Formats: sequence, C-alpha cells, structure tokens
Amino acid sequence: MERRYVIAGNWKMNKTPSEAKALLEEIVKANDGKTACDIVLCVPAIDIPAAVEATKGTNVIIGAQNVHFKDNGAYTGEISAAMLKECGVEYVIIGHSERRQYFGETDATVNLRTAQALANGLKAIVCVGETLEERKDNITFDLIAIQIKRAFKGISEEDMKNVIIAYEPVWAIGTGETATNEQAEEVCAFIRGLIAELYSVDLANAITIQYGGSMNAKNAAELLAMDNIDGGLIGGASLKAPDFTTIIDSVKA
Ligand code: PGA
Repeated sequence: MERRYVIAGNWKMNKTPSEAKALLEEIVKANDGKTACDIVLCVPAIDIPAAVEATKGTNVIIGAQNVHFKDNGAYTGEISAAMLKECGVEYVIIGHSERRQYFGETDATVNLRTAQALANGLKAIVCVGETLEERKDNITFDLIAIQIKRAFKGISEEDMKNVIIAYEPVWAIGTGETATNEQAEEVCAFIRGLIAELYSVDLANAITIQYGGSMNAKNAAELLAMDNIDGGLIGGASLKAPDFTTIIDSVKA
C-alpha cells in the first residue's frame, strides 16, 4: 500500500446547497485531471446531494463532517453511515475539535463513529490535537497518544487502511496561528511511530497523516514538504477556490 497525499476541505457550517454547487464547480474546473493528491471536500450534510451531483465523474471526492455510530433508530437530528454511503459520500471527518468542544464528542464516541464508518465502507478522517493549555502543560504527546489509542481501540489493521489521521492543534484552528513546520512535523512523526507500535511499520508507512489548523495558500508548500505530513485538512482556505487550488498545487509531485 502506497502513501497518498490527501488535501481535504472542511467547510464546517458554511454554504447553502446552491452556494456549494457553485463553489464546487469552480474547484472542479480549477483542478481538472490533477493526480498528485486526492481532493476531498467535506460539506454540510444538507449539501451532500448537490455536491455529489456537481462533482460526478471528476477527481473531486465528497465527504461528510460527522456520522452517527448506530445503524438507525431514535437519534433525532443524526445521520447514519448507510445514509451517507447511499448519497455517494466517500469520506467522513470524525472527532473534529469543534465537535469535541461544542457537541460532547469524546474519545469513546470517536471510536464508535470510526468503527461504524469503516464497517459501512466509508473512509474516516480522524482528528486529534491538543489545546493551547495542554501544549503549555507539556502533555501534547501524552494526550495525542491517548486520543489515538482510544480512537482506534478494536479497529483492525485491515480497516486502518481506510483511515486518515488529521493532526489539528486546537490552538491553530481558525485562529490564523499555524503550527510551525517543525511543531507539525514533530507530532505527525510521533503519530506515525505510534501507529508502527500499535499496528505495523508497513501500516505506519502507508497511512496518510494530515496537518490541519490555519493551513493556507501561503504556508501549505512548506508544511507539505515535511516528511511526515501527507496532506491537509483545511477549513477557511477551502472556501475559496483559488486558495484551495494553490494548496492542492503545493503537494510535492
Ligand atoms: P482552519 O480549520 O483551516 O480554518 O484553521 C481547519 C479545521 O478545522 O479543520
């Protein structure tokens, strides 16, 4: 299994279906035929049908931003893996820090959602990252290790082939403050080492590890040039087709 660069946009709660269609058409046009990385846009759930339609037959793949961990039932407001799959979704972000912060997401529910996504043939982009306080307290590596061990508890090595890990320091998300290349590389390398320990060197070498947190058109090339950074999870800059395209073009060939 060969390591793939994946540039994924996380639109968060932005864009109505018609706005999503227009922006995706712009992104598709600007990136037609590019193969150096996989291009994924994780859109709001309500935008998914329009997004899948707008990207049909192109190299742009659609993802969701969350998935419930049960097959179906009395879970008002939730969306199942089977629903996403039937709509043409290929990826789902799990455990984003905003979900942890505002919607009670825990390492345990991240684990359940990851297992459910993988069991239903979705690829999971699992987010981990420390807060500023945790970084200052010097517990970044301990915390990341706990998040990773718990997120992937019981997940087989075979299933892990459909997992991307996104390292997103919480203090860098939407703040304009990016981790330095060295800070980002250090944690991504640590994550790869941990995967080697928990699974195998082969899986560690093959798994895609993204950096996320104020990645933009200006800083992407430097971050993506680091040995252990295999892509980005991009919020703000994925809402602008030219910026997102520059990030895609920053992937080293
Ligand atoms: P940002 O968001 O690029 O706007 O910092 C990244 C993310 O939350 O995935």
